[in-house]
Amino acid sequence: MKCSVVLLLGAVSVFVGDSEPARILGLFHFNGKSHFTMFESLLKGLAARGHQVYVVGHFPQKKPIPNYTDIDVEGTLPAITNNFTITMARGFGYLNLFDFIWNTNREMCRSVLQHPKVQSLINSDAKFDLIITEIFGTDCFIGLSHRFKVPIISMISSVILPWGNDRIGNPDHPAYIPNYFLPYPQHMTLGQRIINTLMVEALKLGHYYFAELPMNELARQHFGQDMPPIAELKKKTSLILANSHFSLNIPRPTVPPFVEVGGLHIQSDGKLPKDLETFINESKDGVIYFSLGSLVRAETLPKDKLEAFISAFSELPQRVLWKIDGIAGLPDNVRTSKWYPQFEILSHPNVRVFLTHGGLMGTQEAVYAGVPMVGIPLFADQELNIRNCMAKGTAVLLLYDSITKERLSSALRTALSDPSYRKNAEKLSRLFRDRPQTPLETAIFWTEYVIRHGGAPQLRSAAVDLTWYQYLLVDVIAVIVLSVIIVFVSLYVIFRKIISTCAGSMSRKLKSN
Ligand SMILES: *[C@@H]1O[C@H](CO)[C@@H](O)[C@H](O)[C@H]1NC(C)=O
Ligand SMILES: *[C@@H]1O[C@H](CO)[C@@H](O)[C@H](O)[C@H]1NC(C)=O
Ligand SMILES: *[C@@H]1O[C@H](CO)[C@@H](O)[C@H](O)[C@H]1NC(C)=O
Repeated sequence: MKCSVVLLLGAVSVFVGDSEPARILGLFHFNGKSHFTMFESLLKGLAARGHQVYVVGHFPQKKPIPNYTDIDVEGTLPAITNNFTITMARGFGYLNLFDFIWNTNREMCRSVLQHPKVQSLINSDAKFDLIITEIFGTDCFIGLSHRFKVPIISMISSVILPWGNDRIGNPDHPAYIPNYFLPYPQHMTLGQRIINTLMVEALKLGHYYFAELPMNELARQHFGQDMPPIAELKKKTSLILANSHFSLNIPRPTVPPFVEVGGLHIQSDGKLPKDLETFINESKDGVIYFSLGSLVRAETLPKDKLEAFISAFSELPQRVLWKIDGIAGLPDNVRTSKWYPQFEILSHPNVRVFLTHGGLMGTQEAVYAGVPMVGIPLFADQELNIRNCMAKGTAVLLLYDSITKERLSSALRTALSDPSYRKNAEKLSRLFRDRPQTPLETAIFWTEYVIRHGGAPQLRSAAVDLTWYQYLLVDVIAVIVLSVIIVFVSLYVIFRKIISTCAGSMSRKLKSN
């Protein structure tokens, strides 16, 4: 394991390819830490390749990195990292979730655009060769690609969202591609296909009306009144780098500018702090690692759930590492911290099970490390991620509302003692890692490709320019159906005419006889 981790890192410098050093501007208005870890991997990788990288974001580097400059807007928004209560997370039904993704996200964008550092960037005559931004709730910075006249690459820290496909003409056929927001399998029932189809279309419309139209206003205000609508600008996206991979998510058809780099954020020197390594080393029966992710504070779990966890853990021979803060009276085998080096822990051979909320980043880390999971999804795509792993035999699902000590113990027992989970997890790990290039090399190659070829218009599919009825062949089918109808009607009229003429002459003949 250690070996492959080192390989993952070392590979960047071995990568051959030639590109002039470029000036690259990363623009990330949303302050989701897990999102940024993916973007940061590429930005650092590009700086290490000798490009000059400038980054507007909420997570400045703690130690300066050569060729990487932070334009830091930290503190502009209320922190969300480690600032969600369980109640907030569980309250993310669809309505709240879309309100957050579209409306709250736009207001976040508004605050970031007003930041003095961002204002002076927007109004400067700085020259860049490329902009890298995020597809999430709102296309906050897409107007800057127009203002600076540079190509744009969009990254997405999840599986592509329904409103991310059309801008590059990427297929998203709802018959066999369940959308991000539904925990459906690849093979959907009729009912699931109906819901999936309606949802994909409704979300595209919803995004247009609730996210894109109001964003047009904001963009004109900041990037100039002459700015074309975002609907036009986003069609100039040169490349999308998505955090998915067919081994874990589903195989999907993609156009050339859609590149899957699932697991890009997994970068590590493989080192654990000494005391943690000792703690894990010395656990005869292995270790369970438990985290509900970077947003949620596990200490806000209701009392009955907390007690269920604690009493289930107290009966385990395994040691438990739990990302939680300020909980007293825990059994001796449980150790807690506000923050853990998650991937390094999961990579330790003595870690037997990952008890997780099923966020995509953590799921990918467990998949990479070949660790079985017990998943307690809370919101968004978490249930989809856990169900994907269940389908591959590497995860046990435990619904939050049904958590009791008995169910938790039984789920953990299954994942710990049924050897098929480990075997399947190791198999999935091999599939996830078996690629011609690492995700970082892939992302760097395509980023430099876009720079080398001035936005790489040769990648662009004509599907981007079609209207919906052209794309769905409605006009073609209409013409064909109409032609067939005309032919049949004409034949019918002609035959009737012939028959009536013949019949007329026959009856005249009969009469004259
Ligand atoms: C920074 O970029 C320049 C070229 O833009 C390159 O010559 C230099 O080696 C880079 N520095 C590092 C430490 O990578
Ligand atoms: C946490 O969230 C609350 C409410 O959303 C907010 O008022 C507070 O400032 C946040 N905490 C930090 C450290 O930003
Ligand atoms: C943990 O175990 C590994 C393998 O046995 C060993 O190489 C490492 O030095 C140990 N670490 C500590 C801190 O004891």
